Amino acid sequence: MNFELTETQLMIRDAARKFSREVVAPRARKTDREEIFPAEVYAQMGELGLLGVNVPEALGGAAAGVVSYALAVMEVSAACASTSVGMCVTNMVAELIVQFGTPEQQKKHVPRLTSGAAVAGAFALSEPHAGSDPGAGRTTAVKKDGRWVLNGTKQWITSGAYAGVVIVWARTSNEGNKGLSCFIVEKGTPGMTPGKHEDKMGLRGSNTVPLNFENCEVGDDALLGKLGDGFKLAMVALDGGRIGIASQACGVGRAAIEASVKYSKDRHAFGQQIGEFQALRFMMADMHTQQQAAELLTLRAATLKEKKTPFSREASMAKLFASEMSNRVCDKAVQIHGGYGYIDEFPVERYLRDARVQTIYEGTSEIQRIVIAREVIKAAAS
Ligand code: CAA
Repeated sequence: MNFELTETQLMIRDAARKFSREVVAPRARKTDREEIFPAEVYAQMGELGLLGVNVPEALGGAAAGVVSYALAVMEVSAACASTSVGMCVTNMVAELIVQFGTPEQQKKHVPRLTSGAAVAGAFALSEPHAGSDPGAGRTTAVKKDGRWVLNGTKQWITSGAYAGVVIVWARTSNEGNKGLSCFIVEKGTPGMTPGKHEDKMGLRGSNTVPLNFENCEVGDDALLGKLGDGFKLAMVALDGGRIGIASQACGVGRAAIEASVKYSKDRHAFGQQIGEFQALRFMMADMHTQQQAAELLTLRAATLKEKKTPFSREASMAKLFASEMSNRVCDKAVQIHGGYGYIDEFPVERYLRDARVQTIYEGTSEIQRIVIAREVIKAAAS
């Protein structure tokens, strides 16, 4: 096992760190408080290669691999998780089109995603009644006069009102999971309309909307992958997506620890820095250990994906552990800050609100446990 980062990985991490500290972090509080969708930041990220870190250069990506991607997400997330979630979904959408798209689809959509010209990518899988169980989706795609006609409602769509390229799952037959297919729908296609922006607890700069489809027509050239393979495409995308969310959790957790260490030096009580008290030191030791363990799990999953070896279980383990870690760590960070942790003068209240969704989206902790347990039992049986 090699724990050293390569030159490329260091270069991407350092570029993402510099950009995050200079551009993303200074606007993070306003992004959150005023619910500002970070479109301008995505345009700059496109120039740096951060919207297609694991996408071939020929399609406008950085071709820097999955570990570089995870490191870049950690850096952006330490500055602003509202910004990093859209970055994660855009990378996921671009990679899915690279993996399953025809050369025409790749050429048409991927450079627009990686450059930021499409603003962002969106992943329209969940529905109002079907989140953990996407195979129960009811949105339909019916072939009429040689065109696919989409009808239904998608829910919780990250960047849904802004994304230039949206991957939409729709039912093309009644065969459960095997009846789902995937379509690439461009912003502005008649019949696809974003609904009301959700007023969320955290990630308030990220745009989250339902997407309504009313007789939305697309051609055969919009079908991504084979007819009826939509469920599998979703699972493949989510395996990689979970590495992204694990990385986001690592970044937010790290930022909470850094803020806590700083505060514990600045704040005095009973005649000394509060960081001198063993109670705080033990908290910080546990926070740091758990955050580092989450980074190792995340980078291991990223390494396996990069080597093209199976990584579903590892991605779920990383996502489960890292998202639960970031919730614990951010909660402790608020505790260390006392009353100041509860107001927006310090960033830790935002970190805690942003961390909360990480155990929910891209598969709840309970779904990750299902995936992990199945794989463990399968391995023991073989
Ligand atoms: N890779 C490839 N294929 C896979 C796969 C994987 N990781 N996992 C399953 N499959 C295949 C199976 O092999 C099976 O194929 P066959 O029918 O040919 O045998 C098929 O898919 C069905 O698999 P399962 O029987 O395991 O399916 P299931 O209905 O039991 O569900 C599940 C499995 C893991 C619970 C799945 O439903 C799941 O992951 N649910 C969570 C969904 C989720 O994460 N949603 C997040 C929404 S997106 C989001 O949050 C994005 C955002 O904007 C931030």
